[in-house]
Amino acid sequence: METLLERAFHRLIKKVFLQLTNQHLGFAPGTMKEGKTSCARGDDENTGVFGASAAKYPCFGIWDAVLYRSGKECRGRGPLAGCCGIGCFARVEPSKKLSHAKMIRYSFIAALICATTLSTTNLPAFELHAEKTSPFDLALKGRLEGVPEGETRYLRRAELEALPKRTLVLSGEFVPGTQEVTVVMLDDVLAKLPRLANADALIATCHDGYASIYTSSFMAEYKPFMVLEINGKGPETWPPEGLTFNPGPYVISTSKELAPDAPALLDAGHKRPWGVNLIEFINYEERFAVWYNGALKDPSPIVAEGRYIWVNSCFSCHNEPKENLGGIKGARSMQILESHAVYNEAYFKTYIREPKKFNPMALMEPHPHYTDAQLDALVAFLKATMGQ
Ligand code: HEC
Repeated sequence: METLLERAFHRLIKKVFLQLTNQHLGFAPGTMKEGKTSCARGDDENTGVFGASAAKYPCFGIWDAVLYRSGKECRGRGPLAGCCGIGCFARVEPSKKLSHAKMIRYSFIAALICATTLSTTNLPAFELHAEKTSPFDLALKGRLEGVPEGETRYLRRAELEALPKRTLVLSGEFVPGTQEVTVVMLDDVLAKLPRLANADALIATCHDGYASIYTSSFMAEYKPFMVLEINGKGPETWPPEGLTFNPGPYVISTSKELAPDAPALLDAGHKRPWGVNLIEFINYEERFAVWYNGALKDPSPIVAEGRYIWVNSCFSCHNEPKENLGGIKGARSMQILESHAVYNEAYFKTYIREPKKFNPMALMEPHPHYTDAQLDALVAFLKATMGQ
């Protein structure tokens, strides 16, 4: 017979267990519940994240989580959590009988965990600093309240670390094999920043001049995050073992564990910039006005597609210097590329698919996956920007 104390204790632990599972899996609070609750994701992955939290909070190691789909067990027992198709729910059961003294001790720990997760989600807004004091400070500029145009402010790494952290167990993301990656959600970072109401997108810039754009709708759909640690180690000790370059100070990334459609994005790699040290907050329409007005106001579908590919991919390395738009890693401005597209279309298209064909030393990555239609769209867009 279960005593009253045991029953109360099991309830509390289940609550914390499921709360943490939701947090680590990136679900809204309450998504994974005890009982018949759909987790509303078509993801058939076992992310193993609960393994990480069980290791972090040893008192949960004595619990078994069993996940069900339509009433059928679909994953093994053990400290695992994942979501397997629509209609997932969890059963959480003690795998050991505990003494009353241990129950009371674990209740305190669980209450503490609840209190810290609650308090971190209600942290006050970040205070922005005028001075850079460390290579791990993140520079911010653009549409932020109290930050005059052209000025830069800084966020300290410790401030990012105070946000709710998630541990993702990923495979082959940064270093070969399985790795534990500690992240904060980009959304959580944004929620603490004094962004102006019309700041609906951001451009993340890296120390090598690479830039990547994130719109609000992209962020809502693909749940990007900032990487703080890889296998328990932060940027002070990077490059992480198994990686030949240093991805610090920050990496922004998406993963199929949080956004199952992320790998299917065209050039998904462009939404995984490493070496990020600056974020600029923009109003998309205003900042990109040059490509949305005049001849480009009501573009044909092919020009609109070319623009989409340009902004999503080529923009990262090829800049439009007059508007100070885009990354400079490519060391070839948009104007140079426009003239290739207009006067030497075959070269332009081949260079995109296979840069080494003309230039054995090419640093640009090949885009062999681009279809003829996508290459035509890029040409059409660049002709339109040239007013042709
Ligand atoms: C990761 C950075 C990067 C991205 C993204 C990128 N490029 Fe490049 N691109 C370069 C670099 C660097 C060069 C300079 C030559 C080299 O090293 O390959 C270059 C050169 C070129 C050239 C040859 C220019 C010349 O003068 O011969 C063309 C054409 C080109 N890029 C088109 C594109 C298009 C179109 C896209 C988008 C689909 C794109 N690039 C995306 C880095 C990039």
